[in-house]
Amino acid sequence: MRVLSGIQPTGRFHWGNYFGAIRQYIELQNESEAYYFVANLHALTTLREPAILRQNTLDAAIDLLALGLDPDRATLFIQSDVPEVSELCWLLMSQTPMGLLERCHAFKDKKAKGLPADTGLFTYPVLMAADILAYDADIVPVGEDQVQHVEVCRDIAGAFNHKFGEVFVMPKARLMPQAARVPGTDGEKMSKSYDNTIEVFEDPKSARKKVMRIQTDSRPMEQPKEPDGDHLFQLYSLFVGAESRESMAALFRCGGFGYGEVKKALADAAETYFAAARTRREALAADPIRVRAILADGASRARKKAGAVLLRAQRACGIT
Ligand code: TRP
Repeated sequence: MRVLSGIQPTGRFHWGNYFGAIRQYIELQNESEAYYFVANLHALTTLREPAILRQNTLDAAIDLLALGLDPDRATLFIQSDVPEVSELCWLLMSQTPMGLLERCHAFKDKKAKGLPADTGLFTYPVLMAADILAYDADIVPVGEDQVQHVEVCRDIAGAFNHKFGEVFVMPKARLMPQAARVPGTDGEKMSKSYDNTIEVFEDPKSARKKVMRIQTDSRPMEQPKEPDGDHLFQLYSLFVGAESRESMAALFRCGGFGYGEVKKALADAAETYFAAARTRREALAADPIRVRAILADGASRARKKAGAVLLRAQRACGIT
């Protein structure tokens, strides 16, 4: 089974990214052949500051390594280091009906708001399809917002195969359900667009401040509360084992505690949880030569695979 996913370097990773996606990527590297990449070409459709895009791309790769992505098990690379994918993208675009892309939400939403959209945003799902098909991926772990794009990828692959023979492996989306359940500091889903995030490698002091400011309801602290459905409890549960979770649940149910205590426990638990990764990150950040070597190796492995698939596609449609 071959697994593939991409993650956009639009900013530093937050708890929602970690529990919603990155943690699953890391688990999947143990049971499958995994390809993970930093999708800087996709980020280019929204990020127009070259220095920031460059820095974010490197930071994302370092973050993934620090969090446990193991380059000996998984192939980690930067999307743009595999030019074969962009070439494959053109072959796919020439077989993709406009109508299919007009229905895709990123483009549709922008158009509905009357905002100007460029062709990069319009054809974004085709590049994503090329990403997936170039590595013969079977499984694509994604959040809910990307399921539609994997469906489009299947449509494109199916149409191409129908016209030119069995060229592409048909991928399947695997929905990562946790993604919906990481609440932000306002209790809504944690997301950069809601400005309610806490970053994984944020300075612990600043993370603690944000935790202390998490919105809570105003019920008196003496009142017993049901832990399930409480966003502070949900957050705390992400960072601790069953035993601590149970004792926190008991505390909620018997009442007589302050949210301040829960927040303090949450800040402590989060700091402990990411402590080892933080140390690894510092070591990696201080060793750019090692990081570059890992990414160069990942790119060369990825290119080998993508090159073979591109050739298969070129031969099938008469481009050789
Ligand atoms: N579009 C995805 C996102 O915004 C990132 C991405 C690019 C991706 N290429 C991919 C995800 C291929 C899965 C497979 O999250």
